[in-house]
Amino acid sequence: MPHHQHKKRSTPEHDIRSEVTSIIAHQLKSPLAGIKSSLEVILSGQLGALTKNQQEYLHIALDEVDRMVSLVKDLLDAARIDQKELKLNIQPTDLVKLIKDTIDNVATFARATNASISFMPEGEIPLVSVDATKIQQAVNNIIDNAMRYEQGRGEIIIRLKKVGQKIIFSCQDNGIGISKEEQKKIFSKFYRGRKAIELLPTGSGLGLFITKAIIEQSGGKIWFESNLGDGSTFYFFLPVQLKKQK
Ligand SMILES: Nc1ncnc2c1ncn2[C@@H]1O[C@H](COP(=O)(O)OP(=O)(O)OP(=O)(O)O)[C@@H](O)[C@H]1O
Ligand SMILES: [Mg+2]
Repeated sequence: MPHHQHKKRSTPEHDIRSEVTSIIAHQLKSPLAGIKSSLEVILSGQLGALTKNQQEYLHIALDEVDRMVSLVKDLLDAARIDQKELKLNIQPTDLVKLIKDTIDNVATFARATNASISFMPEGEIPLVSVDATKIQQAVNNIIDNAMRYEQGRGEIIIRLKKVGQKIIFSCQDNGIGISKEEQKKIFSKFYRGRKAIELLPTGSGLGLFITKAIIEQSGGKIWFESNLGDGSTFYFFLPVQLKKQK
């Protein structure tokens, strides 16, 4: 018996929707880049000196453009995931360095939100064969949530260890936590928790959808433990792949 009837197929409407999303997102990319660079030229002062007020408003505009750029990027990723077209560029990757770099990249935001991030890799962590950019995106999304969905002072602890043939990552926070009811939904596309929306009205609900797809396509798995009001810990593992002999 042929197996093809068991193949999971998405509905035609579904395909059209993610195709339209991806076309629109593509079309937005270059105008956004144009707006961004124009704003940067004006802000640099090379067209004339700016008052403090003018600088302030330009900074706001630039921040908003940056937000749109990352939304467009997430929409494109989500559409690629729907169309099973997320491409990975696999290379031997040092996860310890990747995580350190990610933490460095969010340092300004961490300071602004009064979060402290500590990283505790345990023992020797071998190189893993993954798409470093994509895994960094996944790690960034998890840390981003830990910093944003906090109550008071964010204490974030990131761990990394090798267990058997797996590298296990965890990110523990002491934030708002996730209710049992919402726990089933947080990896769904566009889903945002009620408390999360209250705390931070802007957000797309794409972060964990994309993160899960990246981890699973890399041969890993993502999960979490959380109690409402009592923090969350997000975990993923990635397989340690032995180098193939030629
Ligand atoms: N560390 C966390 N603490 C509490 N709630 C969390 C945490 N991480 C995720 N959540 C919940 O899961 C939901 C989905 O997270 P996800 O990152 O996908 O979207 P988002 O953060 O709302 O928006 P964005 O796409 O901009 O990241 C959040 O809205 C929030 O309710
Ligand atoms: Mg998020």
